[in-house]
Amino acid sequence: MSQDAFVDFQNVWLAYNDELLAQNHFAVEDINLQVKQGEFIAIVGPSGCGKSTFMKLTTGLKMPSQGRILVDGQPVTGPLKISGMAFQASSLLPWRTTLDNVLLPLEIVEPYRSNFKQKKAEYVERARKLLNTVGLAGYEDKFPWQLSGGMQQRASICRALIHEPKMLLLDEPFGALDAFTREELWCILRDLWTEQKFNVILVTHDLRESVFLADTVYVMSKSPGRFVVKKEIDLPRPRDLEITYTPEFTNIVHELRGHIGAMRKTGATINQ
Ligand SMILES: Nc1ncnc2c1ncn2[C@@H]1O[C@H](COP(=O)(O)OP(=O)(O)O)[C@@H](O)[C@H]1O
Ligand SMILES: [Mg+2]
Repeated sequence: MSQDAFVDFQNVWLAYNDELLAQNHFAVEDINLQVKQGEFIAIVGPSGCGKSTFMKLTTGLKMPSQGRILVDGQPVTGPLKISGMAFQASSLLPWRTTLDNVLLPLEIVEPYRSNFKQKKAEYVERARKLLNTVGLAGYEDKFPWQLSGGMQQRASICRALIHEPKMLLLDEPFGALDAFTREELWCILRDLWTEQKFNVILVTHDLRESVFLADTVYVMSKSPGRFVVKKEIDLPRPRDLEITYTPEFTNIVHELRGHIGAMRKTGATINQ
Protein backbone atom coordinates (compact mmCIF):
# COMPACT_ATOMS: atom_id res chain seq x y z
CA MET A 1 0.00 0.00 0.00
CA SER A 2 1.25 3.49 -0.70
CA GLN A 3 -0.01 6.97 0.15
CA ASP A 4 0.78 8.50 -3.20
CA ALA A 5 -0.03 5.59 -5.54
CA PHE A 6 -2.30 6.54 -8.43
CA VAL A 7 -3.11 2.90 -9.14
CA ASP A 8 -2.98 0.62 -6.12
CA PHE A 9 -3.59 -3.15 -6.36
CA GLN A 10 -3.70 -4.83 -2.96
CA ASN A 11 -3.65 -8.65 -2.99
CA VAL A 12 -5.88 -8.84 -6.04
CA TRP A 13 -7.10 -12.21 -7.32
CA LEU A 14 -9.63 -12.78 -10.08
CA ALA A 15 -11.51 -15.89 -11.14
CA TYR A 16 -13.74 -15.22 -14.15
CA ASN A 17 -16.80 -16.94 -12.72
CA ASP A 18 -18.10 -18.79 -9.67
CA GLU A 19 -17.33 -22.19 -11.10
CA LEU A 20 -13.70 -21.27 -11.74
CA LEU A 21 -13.55 -19.68 -8.30
CA ALA A 22 -14.82 -22.89 -6.70
CA GLN A 23 -12.00 -24.73 -8.46
CA ASN A 24 -9.50 -22.11 -7.27
CA HIS A 25 -8.80 -21.35 -10.89
CA PHE A 26 -7.66 -17.74 -11.02
CA ALA A 27 -6.87 -15.79 -14.21
CA VAL A 28 -4.58 -13.53 -12.15
CA GLU A 29 -3.24 -14.09 -8.64
CA ASP A 30 -2.04 -11.99 -5.76
CA ILE A 31 -1.34 -8.79 -7.64
CA ASN A 32 0.34 -6.16 -5.50
CA LEU A 33 1.29 -3.20 -7.57
CA GLN A 34 1.55 0.53 -7.06
CA VAL A 35 1.78 2.99 -9.90
CA LYS A 36 2.81 6.56 -9.15
CA GLN A 37 1.01 9.61 -10.52
CA GLY A 38 2.15 10.18 -14.10
CA GLU A 39 4.17 6.97 -14.24
CA PHE A 40 4.45 5.05 -17.51
CA ILE A 41 4.38 1.31 -16.92
CA ALA A 42 4.62 -1.52 -19.42
CA ILE A 43 3.49 -5.11 -18.90
CA VAL A 44 5.04 -7.95 -20.87
CA GLY A 45 4.35 -11.66 -20.73
CA PRO A 46 3.14 -14.63 -22.78
CA SER A 47 -0.33 -14.84 -24.32
CA GLY A 48 -2.95 -15.81 -21.78
CA CYS A 49 -0.95 -14.69 -18.72
CA GLY A 50 -3.56 -12.14 -17.69
CA LYS A 51 -2.46 -8.84 -19.20
CA SER A 52 -5.87 -7.92 -20.58
CA THR A 53 -7.45 -9.16 -17.36
CA PHE A 54 -5.26 -6.69 -15.49
CA MET A 55 -6.55 -3.91 -17.77
CA LYS A 56 -10.16 -4.93 -17.14
CA LEU A 57 -9.55 -4.82 -13.40
CA THR A 58 -7.87 -1.42 -13.60
CA THR A 59 -10.79 0.14 -15.46
CA GLY A 60 -13.47 -1.52 -13.35
CA LEU A 61 -14.81 -3.72 -16.15
CA LYS A 62 -14.14 -6.68 -13.81
CA MET A 63 -14.29 -6.74 -10.03
CA PRO A 64 -11.66 -8.73 -8.12
CA SER A 65 -12.67 -12.01 -6.46
CA GLN A 66 -10.36 -11.05 -3.61
CA GLY A 67 -8.39 -7.95 -2.73
CA ARG A 68 -8.81 -4.26 -3.38
CA ILE A 69 -8.08 -1.83 -6.19
CA LEU A 70 -7.80 1.92 -5.72
CA VAL A 71 -7.38 4.38 -8.57
CA ASP A 72 -6.68 8.02 -7.76
CA GLY A 73 -7.41 7.30 -4.10
CA GLN A 74 -10.89 5.84 -4.78
CA PRO A 75 -11.91 2.18 -4.62
CA VAL A 76 -12.85 0.98 -8.10
CA THR A 77 -16.50 -0.05 -8.01
CA GLY A 78 -17.48 0.12 -11.67
CA PRO A 79 -16.29 1.29 -15.09
CA LEU A 80 -14.00 4.30 -14.77
CA LYS A 81 -14.45 7.51 -16.72
CA ILE A 82 -10.98 8.81 -16.08
CA SER A 83 -9.33 6.40 -18.46
CA GLY A 84 -8.92 6.21 -22.20
CA MET A 85 -8.22 2.97 -24.06
CA ALA A 86 -6.72 1.84 -27.35
CA PHE A 87 -6.27 -1.70 -28.64
CA GLN A 88 -4.41 -3.62 -31.31
CA ALA A 89 -7.27 -3.26 -33.75
CA SER A 90 -7.98 0.46 -33.93
CA SER A 91 -11.75 -0.13 -33.54
CA LEU A 92 -12.57 3.12 -35.31
CA LEU A 93 -16.17 3.24 -36.48
CA PRO A 94 -16.10 2.80 -40.27
CA TRP A 95 -19.06 5.09 -40.90
CA ARG A 96 -17.51 8.02 -39.04
CA THR A 97 -14.79 10.33 -40.30
CA THR A 98 -11.50 10.59 -38.42
CA LEU A 99 -12.69 13.77 -36.72
CA ASP A 100 -16.02 12.26 -35.70
CA ASN A 101 -14.30 9.14 -34.39
CA VAL A 102 -12.03 11.27 -32.21
CA LEU A 103 -15.03 13.24 -30.93
CA LEU A 104 -16.91 10.09 -29.93
CA PRO A 105 -15.91 9.97 -26.22
CA LEU A 106 -17.11 13.55 -25.80
CA GLU A 107 -20.52 12.48 -27.05
CA ILE A 108 -20.62 9.67 -24.49
CA VAL A 109 -18.68 10.67 -21.37
CA GLU A 110 -19.98 13.22 -18.86
CA PRO A 111 -19.55 16.13 -18.30
CA TYR A 112 -18.87 16.55 -22.02
CA ARG A 113 -21.96 14.71 -23.15
CA SER A 114 -24.44 17.16 -21.59
CA ASN A 115 -22.97 20.21 -23.28
CA PHE A 116 -21.78 18.58 -26.48
CA LYS A 117 -24.13 20.64 -28.66
CA GLN A 118 -23.24 24.03 -27.13
CA LYS A 119 -19.54 23.33 -27.03
CA LYS A 120 -19.17 21.41 -30.25
CA ALA A 121 -17.04 24.11 -31.93
CA GLU A 122 -14.60 24.09 -29.02
CA TYR A 123 -14.43 20.28 -29.02
CA VAL A 124 -13.85 20.15 -32.76
CA GLU A 125 -11.01 22.61 -32.29
CA ARG A 126 -9.52 20.39 -29.59
CA ALA A 127 -9.80 17.29 -31.78
CA ARG A 128 -8.14 19.11 -34.69
CA LYS A 129 -5.26 20.20 -32.47
CA LEU A 130 -4.73 16.68 -31.19
CA LEU A 131 -4.86 15.23 -34.73
CA ASN A 132 -2.32 17.84 -35.74
CA THR A 133 0.11 16.79 -32.98
CA VAL A 134 0.06 13.20 -34.24
CA GLY A 135 0.57 14.26 -37.86
CA LEU A 136 -3.00 13.75 -39.06
CA ALA A 137 -3.82 17.33 -40.04
CA GLY A 138 -5.63 17.17 -43.37
CA TYR A 139 -7.13 13.75 -42.68
CA GLU A 140 -10.00 14.93 -40.46
CA ASP A 141 -12.64 14.21 -43.08
CA LYS A 142 -11.28 10.86 -44.27
CA PHE A 143 -12.91 7.61 -43.28
CA PRO A 144 -10.91 4.89 -41.47
CA TRP A 145 -10.61 2.75 -44.61
CA GLN A 146 -8.90 5.66 -46.33
CA LEU A 147 -6.12 5.66 -43.71
CA SER A 148 -3.08 3.39 -43.33
CA GLY A 149 -2.84 1.10 -40.29
CA GLY A 150 -0.44 3.50 -38.59
CA MET A 151 -2.75 6.45 -39.21
CA GLN A 152 -5.71 4.51 -37.82
CA GLN A 153 -3.74 3.82 -34.64
CA ARG A 154 -2.79 7.48 -34.33
CA ALA A 155 -6.46 8.41 -34.65
CA SER A 156 -7.44 5.85 -32.05
CA ILE A 157 -4.85 7.24 -29.62
CA CYS A 158 -6.35 10.71 -30.19
CA ARG A 159 -9.78 9.27 -29.47
CA ALA A 160 -8.44 7.73 -26.24
CA LEU A 161 -7.01 11.10 -25.16
CA ILE A 162 -9.69 13.57 -26.31
CA HIS A 163 -11.47 13.70 -22.92
CA GLU A 164 -8.11 14.34 -21.20
CA PRO A 165 -8.13 11.14 -19.17
CA LYS A 166 -5.79 10.77 -16.22
CA MET A 167 -4.92 7.29 -17.39
CA LEU A 168 -4.27 5.83 -20.83
CA LEU A 169 -4.54 2.06 -21.26
CA LEU A 170 -2.93 0.58 -24.34
CA ASP A 171 -3.38 -3.13 -25.04
CA GLU A 172 -0.82 -4.11 -27.72
CA PRO A 173 -1.63 -0.95 -29.68
CA PHE A 174 1.25 -1.19 -32.17
CA GLY A 175 1.35 -4.98 -32.59
CA ALA A 176 -0.05 -5.02 -36.12
CA LEU A 177 2.21 -2.29 -37.51
CA ASP A 178 5.48 -2.55 -39.41
CA ALA A 179 8.68 -1.78 -37.49
CA PHE A 180 9.20 1.73 -38.91
CA THR A 181 5.64 2.85 -38.29
CA ARG A 182 5.80 1.36 -34.83
CA GLU A 183 8.87 3.41 -33.96
CA GLU A 184 7.20 6.57 -35.27
CA LEU A 185 4.28 5.88 -32.99
CA TRP A 186 6.56 5.28 -29.99
CA CYS A 187 7.83 8.82 -30.50
CA ILE A 188 4.34 10.25 -30.85
CA LEU A 189 3.26 8.54 -27.65
CA ARG A 190 6.45 9.67 -25.88
CA ASP A 191 5.77 13.28 -26.89
CA LEU A 192 2.11 13.24 -25.84
CA TRP A 193 3.04 11.70 -22.49
CA THR A 194 5.94 14.11 -21.92
CA GLU A 195 3.60 17.02 -22.47
CA GLN A 196 0.54 15.78 -20.57
CA LYS A 197 1.94 13.30 -18.02
CA PHE A 198 -1.14 11.08 -17.84
CA ASN A 199 -0.54 7.60 -16.41
CA VAL A 200 0.09 4.99 -19.05
CA ILE A 201 -0.37 1.25 -18.77
CA LEU A 202 1.00 -0.33 -21.92
CA VAL A 203 0.64 -4.04 -22.65
CA THR A 204 3.09 -5.20 -25.28
CA HIS A 205 4.93 -8.21 -26.66
CA ASP A 206 7.77 -6.00 -27.79
CA LEU A 207 10.51 -5.76 -25.15
CA ARG A 208 12.28 -2.91 -26.97
CA GLU A 209 9.04 -0.97 -27.01
CA SER A 210 8.59 -1.47 -23.27
CA VAL A 211 12.13 -0.35 -22.44
CA PHE A 212 12.06 2.65 -24.78
CA LEU A 213 8.79 4.01 -23.44
CA ALA A 214 8.28 2.94 -19.84
CA ASP A 215 9.54 4.05 -16.44
CA THR A 216 8.87 0.58 -15.10
CA VAL A 217 8.47 -2.74 -16.89
CA TYR A 218 6.60 -5.63 -15.26
CA VAL A 219 6.94 -9.21 -16.43
CA MET A 220 3.98 -11.53 -15.90
CA SER A 221 4.03 -15.31 -15.77
CA LYS A 222 1.33 -17.62 -17.09
CA SER A 223 -0.45 -20.31 -15.03
CA PRO A 224 -0.34 -18.84 -12.50
CA GLY A 225 -0.93 -15.35 -13.89
CA ARG A 226 1.33 -13.37 -11.62
CA PHE A 227 3.59 -10.33 -11.69
CA VAL A 228 7.04 -11.87 -11.29
CA VAL A 229 9.57 -9.17 -12.19
CA LYS A 230 9.60 -5.40 -11.71
CA LYS A 231 12.32 -3.58 -13.62
CA GLU A 232 12.82 0.16 -13.26
CA ILE A 233 14.18 1.64 -16.48
CA ASP A 234 16.61 4.34 -15.43
CA LEU A 235 17.61 5.39 -18.94
CA PRO A 236 17.67 9.20 -19.05
CA ARG A 237 14.81 11.14 -20.62
CA PRO A 238 14.02 12.50 -23.08
CA ARG A 239 14.77 9.26 -24.94
CA ASP A 240 15.50 9.35 -28.61
CA LEU A 241 15.36 6.33 -30.96
CA GLU A 242 19.18 6.46 -31.00
CA ILE A 243 19.13 5.16 -27.44
CA THR A 244 17.81 1.82 -28.70
CA TYR A 245 21.24 1.18 -30.26
CA THR A 246 23.23 1.74 -27.04
CA PRO A 247 24.65 -1.08 -24.90
CA GLU A 248 22.73 0.23 -21.84
CA PHE A 249 19.46 -0.22 -23.69
CA THR A 250 20.33 -3.58 -25.16
CA ASN A 251 21.45 -4.88 -21.77
CA ILE A 252 18.07 -4.13 -20.23
CA VAL A 253 16.22 -5.76 -23.14
CA HIS A 254 18.51 -8.74 -22.79
CA GLU A 255 17.88 -9.02 -19.07
CA LEU A 256 14.09 -8.97 -19.59
CA ARG A 257 14.41 -11.52 -22.36
CA GLY A 258 16.30 -13.72 -19.89
CA HIS A 259 13.43 -13.58 -17.39
CA ILE A 260 10.91 -14.54 -20.06
CA GLY A 261 13.15 -17.29 -21.42
CA ALA A 262 13.59 -18.75 -17.93
CA MET A 263 9.82 -18.79 -17.43
CA ARG A 264 9.23 -20.54 -20.74
CA LYS A 265 11.73 -23.21 -19.82
CA THR A 266 10.04 -23.85 -16.49
CA GLY A 267 6.70 -23.97 -18.29
CA ALA A 268 8.07 -26.56 -20.74
CA THR A 269 9.23 -28.78 -17.89
CA ILE A 270 5.85 -28.61 -16.19
CA ASN A 271 4.11 -29.53 -19.44
CA GLN A 272 6.24 -32.59 -20.08
N1 LIG B 1 -14.13 -13.94 -20.20
C1 LIG B 1 -13.34 -14.92 -19.76
N2 LIG B 1 -13.85 -16.04 -19.14
C2 LIG B 1 -13.05 -17.01 -18.66
N3 LIG B 1 -11.72 -17.00 -18.75
C3 LIG B 1 -11.14 -15.93 -19.35
C4 LIG B 1 -11.92 -14.85 -19.88
N4 LIG B 1 -11.06 -13.94 -20.42
C5 LIG B 1 -9.84 -14.42 -20.24
N5 LIG B 1 -9.87 -15.61 -19.60
C6 LIG B 1 -8.72 -16.43 -19.19
O1 LIG B 1 -7.90 -15.67 -18.32
C7 LIG B 1 -6.53 -15.89 -18.60
C8 LIG B 1 -5.86 -14.57 -18.92
O2 LIG B 1 -6.39 -14.04 -20.14
P1 LIG B 1 -6.00 -12.62 -20.72
O3 LIG B 1 -6.06 -11.62 -19.62
O4 LIG B 1 -6.85 -12.35 -21.91
O5 LIG B 1 -4.48 -12.86 -21.15
P2 LIG B 1 -3.50 -11.98 -22.08
O6 LIG B 1 -4.15 -10.67 -22.32
O7 LIG B 1 -2.23 -11.87 -21.28
O8 LIG B 1 -3.28 -12.75 -23.34
C9 LIG B 1 -6.47 -16.89 -19.75
O9 LIG B 1 -6.30 -18.17 -19.20
C10 LIG B 1 -7.84 -16.76 -20.39
O10 LIG B 1 -8.23 -17.97 -20.99
MG1 LIG C 1 -4.62 -9.69 -24.12
